[in-house]
Amino acid sequence: MSSTYIIVTKQDGYAIAQINRPDVLNALNMALMAELVDALETLDKDNDVRCIILTGNEKAFAAGADIKEMADASAMEMLLRDQFARWDRIRKIKKPIIAAVSGFALGGGCEVVMACDMVIASETARFGQPEINLGVMPGAGGTQRLTRAVGKVKAMEMVLTGRVISAEEALRYGLINKVVPIECYLEEAKSWAKEIASKPPVAVRLAKESVLKAFDTTMEGGLEFERKNFYLLFASDDQKEGMSAFNEKRTPGWKGK
Ligand code: HXC
Repeated sequence: MSSTYIIVTKQDGYAIAQINRPDVLNALNMALMAELVDALETLDKDNDVRCIILTGNEKAFAAGADIKEMADASAMEMLLRDQFARWDRIRKIKKPIIAAVSGFALGGGCEVVMACDMVIASETARFGQPEINLGVMPGAGGTQRLTRAVGKVKAMEMVLTGRVISAEEALRYGLINKVVPIECYLEEAKSWAKEIASKPPVAVRLAKESVLKAFDTTMEGGLEFERKNFYLLFASDDQKEGMSAFNEKRTPGWKGK
């Protein structure tokens, strides 16, 4: 199911979707984003896949939306193109997505990373929202997700100065989960994906949904939502299996329902 710009491979219960437009540092043009979102949605429906890794190459995860494709557009063309509506569909993917990042994750590239659920980075990874240097600002979640991830003052710094931060800084600010040497970033992401793929999939799905709910609800509404999902899991075979296995001191065998 690979396409022009996205290479998809599957193994051990997870899939890797690799952005592949290396001659322009994986700049995200509209065709690439259409393929990326299609690939993620296909993997979301694939029963062999329980976790997705999204990656680029060692030099770039993605250096942003394709500047050449936007440079001459009018506001009306941008509005009617509505290209970022497609990006919103990443938020609807139910399976966990781990971004494995090396090199540049800038502008739209950083925004795609932030739309993922966890982030493993190589020591060479660089994160930033440099749109201000192009006379614009983040347009695919940068002002919202970055602020929620790193807080107001750091988000202001990155968005208003366009300053690019290192992997170590990103780790310190809570933007990413882990930094590893460049030789290991994909292997590390694979080991996280394999671990998540070994968990009961319905519980994983509802847990992801519940964590994401925290971003767009009140505490009261979120706690209510969490509780309903928790109760719902008692309708799954996997809850009976997980708790029986604990009591019988054996390893559970998940059915995924
Ligand atoms: C189109 C891009 C690109 C981009 C790099 N390239 N980034 N093309 N859109 N975002 C192309 C370059 O034009 C060049 O092509 C090739 O990739 C290699 O890039 P260089 O600049 O030669 O590499 P280097 O000197 O190593 O510098 C790397 C870089 C720089 C620092 C990442 O490329 C850069 O600043 N890129 C733009 C980063 C950016 O501003 N991103 C935000 C984009 S706006 P040629 O053909 O010349 O060899 C955005 C808006 C999001 O993302 C809004 C909502 C989605």
